[in-house]
Amino acid sequence: MSFPKNRMRRLRQNDALRRMVRETRLSPDDLVMPLFVKEGGGAPEPIASMPGCDRHTLASLVEEARAVHATGVPAVIVFGLPARKDATGTEAYSPEGIVPRAIRALKREVPGLLVWADVCLCEYTDHGHCGVVSGGEVQNDETLPLLARAATVYAEAGADVIAPSDMMDGRIAAVRTALDAAGRANTPIVSYAAKYASAFYGPFREAADSAPAFGDRRGYQMDPANVEEALREVALDIEEGADVVMVKPALAYLDVIRRVKDRFGVPVAAYNVSGEYAMIRAAAANGWIDEERIVLEVLTSIRRAGADIILTYFAKEVAARLG
Ligand code: PBG
Repeated sequence: MSFPKNRMRRLRQNDALRRMVRETRLSPDDLVMPLFVKEGGGAPEPIASMPGCDRHTLASLVEEARAVHATGVPAVIVFGLPARKDATGTEAYSPEGIVPRAIRALKREVPGLLVWADVCLCEYTDHGHCGVVSGGEVQNDETLPLLARAATVYAEAGADVIAPSDMMDGRIAAVRTALDAAGRANTPIVSYAAKYASAFYGPFREAADSAPAFGDRRGYQMDPANVEEALREVALDIEEGADVVMVKPALAYLDVIRRVKDRFGVPVAAYNVSGEYAMIRAAAANGWIDEERIVLEVLTSIRRAGADIILTYFAKEVAARLG
């Protein structure tokens, strides 16, 4: 049956009709807000390439998390900026490191808020790689126990979710085994399963001072050209015990999100990363785009592609508007 019997515009006539036939919904429930916390006191420091985001102190982190939670966003993910970096990323798994202390403060002060802990070494190593390095190479198997230790320390500090982002092989199994052995069998793992070697992480690396001092991450993060390989990564992580799998970045990888959702049917997260955020903020600051509309359009597209959960620096603002 075709025109004039069929008229697609009939259901677009007014907002009430459009709302009733809308296929994709965006809710504060879908969002996770990333927050940075630095060692030491002083004031929160604005991150130049991520306008609106700060390197928080413990005190300002708690205040910001409270504000995020008040908008209806159920979770934050915490990234630590230690005072001291070394070859093996000791501050990542020290029980008195900045992240475990932040987790304890958040769980005490904002009890209803879920705290996700990112597990990686790159913010804590002096060379900026995500694992231990010897002979100029990131060593996979030697890194696993350190990641497992960090995960255990964060879970014991009270983290509700452990999110390994390092891309070492076998890390989900290593983390799951360690959590179970520590009596944390009920702590879920969100695996950064398909994490690409992306230029979109630029502003984050400035924020966390975590750019690799030599080489790049292409020996462990994925080639942006590949999608079949992403499906293998996801399959392995699910087999190793991942409860949620993540695709990262989001916007240049919407097809990957869709393939993962269709193939596995497990909860899928997508990370709307720092570069995606910075581009919108920069264009909006120049008056070139309508930021509010663009942000909703972008986040809706990530949901439409198949993501159940979106990690985004826009979480608080968007949730406040959706609220
Ligand atoms: C740590 C990590 C990174 C991001 C999240 N976890 C940086 C990286 O892999 O270089 C990037 C997040 C963003 O760009 O917003 N490995």
